Amino acid sequence: MCGIVGYFGKRNASDILVDGLRRMEYRGYDSAGVACLYDGEIGVVKNPGKIKGLREKVDASGSGVLQNSIQGIGHTRWATHGPPTEVNAHPHLDVSGHFVMVHNGIIENYKQIRNGLSQHGIECVSDTDSEVLVQLIAYCYKGNLESAVSEALKKVKGTYGIVVMTDKEPGKLVTARCGSPIVLGLGKGETLVASDAAAIMPHTRDAVYLEDFDMAVITDDGVQMFDLQHSPVDREVTEMDWEEGAAEKGDYEHFMLKEMFEQPAAIRNAIRGRLDYEMGTSVLSGLDFSPRDAALISRILVVGCGTSMHAGMVGEYAIEEMAGVPAEVEQAAEFRYRNPIITPTDFVVAISQSGETADTLAAVREAKHKGAVVAGICNVVGSTIARETGRGVYLHAGPEIGVASTKAFTCQVSVMLMIALKVARTRRLPLHEGAEFCRWIERLPELVEKVLEQNDAIKSIAQKYASCDNAFFIGRGYLYPVALEGALKLKEISYVHAEGYHAAELKHGPIALLQEDTPVIALLNNIPGKEKTIGNAEECKARKAPVIAVVTEGDEEAAEGFDDVIVIPECPPSITPVPTVVALQLLSYHIAAARGCEIDQPRNLAKSVTVE
Ligand code: M6R
Repeated sequence: MCGIVGYFGKRNASDILVDGLRRMEYRGYDSAGVACLYDGEIGVVKNPGKIKGLREKVDASGSGVLQNSIQGIGHTRWATHGPPTEVNAHPHLDVSGHFVMVHNGIIENYKQIRNGLSQHGIECVSDTDSEVLVQLIAYCYKGNLESAVSEALKKVKGTYGIVVMTDKEPGKLVTARCGSPIVLGLGKGETLVASDAAAIMPHTRDAVYLEDFDMAVITDDGVQMFDLQHSPVDREVTEMDWEEGAAEKGDYEHFMLKEMFEQPAAIRNAIRGRLDYEMGTSVLSGLDFSPRDAALISRILVVGCGTSMHAGMVGEYAIEEMAGVPAEVEQAAEFRYRNPIITPTDFVVAISQSGETADTLAAVREAKHKGAVVAGICNVVGSTIARETGRGVYLHAGPEIGVASTKAFTCQVSVMLMIALKVARTRRLPLHEGAEFCRWIERLPELVEKVLEQNDAIKSIAQKYASCDNAFFIGRGYLYPVALEGALKLKEISYVHAEGYHAAELKHGPIALLQEDTPVIALLNNIPGKEKTIGNAEECKARKAPVIAVVTEGDEEAAEGFDDVIVIPECPPSITPVPTVVALQLLSYHIAAARGCEIDQPRNLAKSVTVE
């Protein structure tokens, strides 16, 4: 969603800000802007639309401020309150024009604040909830920016990540967070601030993640951190471990394509050093569980949203099958608001690539509040969920830039399988079976490679169906979550209306929609219940729907009579979701490409959904 970047140093600020915004484009946005401060003057440039347009406007501005400044702030906005217009875009100036601010999050009591300001003759000009905050900061200002910021923030209900500056105190940026991430990048003679490490990575690897209610004051003397009461706080400097170029597209046409092809390496990173053949188990030190702790778990609850929830569903099946421990997956927002029953022996696993998804974070807080042991499975190191859970497993998948999640899903499933193995070994799974399962986990990258080798063949199938308006994905058992994930991938990047169903559910209603131009992607891999799914696919065929059969290598006869076939290498049912989903990712990608869609930044979508 929205992205924030700020810079104070020795180099041209507007270049660094626009580049930082470009690096956060993947998060999804519909307008952007920058503000710089130079020689006592604030210059603001905003653009509804793409960063490219903002860049052109900055270049054309001819403003001495933007060309010479070494201090500034920038923002990409994903519209919530008010349409994506220039006036609603950030940075927002206060009425006096002396204060300028960028904000992520939602100010819930903005209407009350706006009415209160209005009584003092201060009228907001935009539709946004954000603008009230800069007006309030200006109103609270009595000669010290950080005091005004903390004063104003005490009156705010909601979430915020902000960066503010004023021409009354040049050489100073003030940033603060509550519920919306802020990371500081400590460079040589310069400091960056951003909502996303991607904007900082090219400049420095030394990062400090602010906690909720922290403020930081950035000046020539470096960074000072306080809480809202002005007591100093100390936050650890961590080193960002993403490889150089990891957030670049390289020779690939899209980040999504690059990230699909990175999956073998990403999974290798996710499992490296985490398999113990001797004990036939996994070593997940971040979970902070002794075998005895694991043995005492009575139930595992998995919470997440979208693709992460689908990965959790694969984990649910594996945990119940291998460990015999009851497991449930719940959409994180639902978990939070339905007052779930939690017992002290429940283990709650929150899955989130970004570690910032608002609903998943809220579920984590609810589960902790109710006394559960909570762990996070996150990709982004230092993200809020990773920090608030305090225990968990990092994916080490590298940055995922494409809005459509691909490598995060396969790594999430790999980690869930390792969790299932760990718990299972404290229960009924014998050592030799545990060791055998380790070998299968280790083979995941190779299985994925075999599917990636079929890229051209899958592309040809995709081109046949690229003009369809509707599609169905069906599967059962371990392949039911994969059907859901396949449909999500297709709809989000190609705008084809796609639904994932349990194969048995189709004839309870959805089958009425099938016709000649509605492809059904049937997951007929060799797992228990395969014959039933073949029967369900036949039913689709009988309604004239073309069927793309996904089958196990060596079992090609399962595809007989169907229109197209994709072959997945042979592996156990709990392992097969990983190679199978890769085929569906490629299919969706090529359909979207053939339709000329904007694959990495689909319309209306944000990479990280930080509002509920
Ligand atoms: O960062 P998270 O894993 O918490 O994100 C959850 C969903 O928003 C995300 O998986 C979304 O469904 C994907 N973009 C789909 O590809």
